[in-house]
Amino acid sequence: MTLPSSITIRRPDDWHVHLRDGPMLQACAVHTARQFARAVIMPNLVPPVTRIAEASAYRDRIRRAVPAGLTFEPLMTCYLTDSADPVELANGKQQGVWVAAKLYPAHATTNSAHGVTSMDRIAKGLEAMEKAGMPLLVHGEVTDADVDIFDREAVFLDKVLAPLLRRHQGLKVVLEHITTKEGVAFVEANGARMGGTITPHHLSYNRNAIFKGGIRPHLYCLPIAKSEEHRLALRRAATSGSAQFFLGTDTAPHTADTKECACGCAGIFNAPVAMQVYTQVFAEENALDHLEAFASLNGPRFYGLLPNEERITLSAGSLDVPERIDVPGSDKSVVVFRPDTPINWSL
Ligand code: DOR
Ligand code: ZN
Repeated sequence: MTLPSSITIRRPDDWHVHLRDGPMLQACAVHTARQFARAVIMPNLVPPVTRIAEASAYRDRIRRAVPAGLTFEPLMTCYLTDSADPVELANGKQQGVWVAAKLYPAHATTNSAHGVTSMDRIAKGLEAMEKAGMPLLVHGEVTDADVDIFDREAVFLDKVLAPLLRRHQGLKVVLEHITTKEGVAFVEANGARMGGTITPHHLSYNRNAIFKGGIRPHLYCLPIAKSEEHRLALRRAATSGSAQFFLGTDTAPHTADTKECACGCAGIFNAPVAMQVYTQVFAEENALDHLEAFASLNGPRFYGLLPNEERITLSAGSLDVPERIDVPGSDKSVVVFRPDTPINWSL
């Protein structure tokens, strides 16, 4: 089959983004806003975003960090802690501040120390969300050190998420950054109340790449990439046209020095290359006709929002993106994600 030399789709949204704050926000916001009309902003700042007023102030800082001329709407999330307040959740949704709340199991990943230690503790909050029609966004990994790191997602689905879904039958749930075939099957088995986001990096490489010729800290994120059969399951799900799967980059910048060290941070900064990489994957899978659904339609439908009216065009051509971006006011930089295989699309 010959591939088209360009593809035009409705402007996409990113349903999972870490923009950080301060100088890092100044460095990163433009890259997400160039690619996406809206983004669901993760609340794992230090300290985490748990109150309506904090989210609203953070949203203002994000808007100010986006250069004039780019239209971009940050969609805010509430960081759930053991003391999550049902009233704050319901009010923030009603006031149009929260679009969702994020569940980090305590100590599962970056800045999750204030996360949830037991689902019982947030039952009242989840009931309030269920009533308010506010989706729960899940970092789906158990934190038990005895569970192998490559099994933590599958075990979480059985031990934590399945009981939670039974207990809260009306709650809408997104399994974020799916990395396993079990994750794909779990989302599918739960029907329209459930969605799954898939990142560009988990579609692009498997766990071998992290250790190719040495340890590659810029391919380290959580959940960690799994084996090839899992990557192929993700590619099938993303490109299938199923309305349950949608775009979420999990772009998560860390400065190079905090990744290239003895105990490097988890997170991949892919914002500048996100749509180019997704388009490459859909082209390789002969599924460019499903790219718009994945990138621009399924997410808004799940969140009860209208799709964007503007259009973007991706053209066949070489990737024209710097290898790193500088963080203003410092000598630090963030390395941009680059798959091992060539990307033949530009935005
Ligand atoms: O790799 C990751 N980085 N996974 C997460 O869940 C959090 C993120 C971050 O904030 O750096
Ligand atoms: Zn994330």
